[in-house]
Amino acid sequence: MNMDETIRGRRSIRKFRKEEIADSLVHEILDLARHAPSSMNGQPWHFIVVREKETKKRLVEIKNRHCPIEKQAYRADFLLGASVIVVVCVDKRESYDREIENGLLAAANILLGAHARGLGSVYMSAHKADEPAVAEEIRQALRIPEHMDPISLLPLGRPAERPEPKEMKPLKEIISHEFFGRE
Ligand SMILES: Cc1cc2nc3c(=O)[nH]c(=O)nc-3n(C[C@H](O)[C@H](O)[C@H](O)COP(=O)(O)O)c2cc1C
Repeated sequence: MNMDETIRGRRSIRKFRKEEIADSLVHEILDLARHAPSSMNGQPWHFIVVREKETKKRLVEIKNRHCPIEKQAYRADFLLGASVIVVVCVDKRESYDREIENGLLAAANILLGAHARGLGSVYMSAHKADEPAVAEEIRQALRIPEHMDPISLLPLGRPAERPEPKEMKPLKEIISHEFFGRE
């Protein structure tokens, strides 16, 4: 799979086969994650690989409790079916006030690296600027130190679904030349 195919073919996967993913494969993907760009080259990442059912349940419970009514279709129960949940964290002391961006760029590499290896994942936030309790509760559940912020929760597993092709806005509609709105 070349890079264009990887980017175009990646989709959110929320149903997983009952199959364990070896640490070696997870580590291969996390190695790609650490090649992401980071503010001031701080490389502030730390990745927690969660496999234990009780810990997964705790994360699901936290995400669901903070899930707004209008997003009930996006409840987190499916996380329990994933072989692992990777929690992307960043060290605030090495983030140069760019915690979220640093975390997101590493997370994007994980989503793509997983897809390129036949694994499925979906992006989930561990950090909401308007709801600090989410990150705080995840921090407590995983014993993440104060100087680190959890940013993303990414399940990994063998896909057990093939999403329908998604509708996308026409490219023309999202590009301007020279100034906003000029074709
Ligand atoms: C910031 C962000 C937050 C997301 N949160 C959730 C979530 O809480 N639950 C979920 O099932 N999917 C979540 N997603 C995945 C999106 O729903 C998904 O990327 C989108 O529907 C497009 O589908 P695709 O990933 O298959 O292209 C999130 C994606 C992003 C970028």
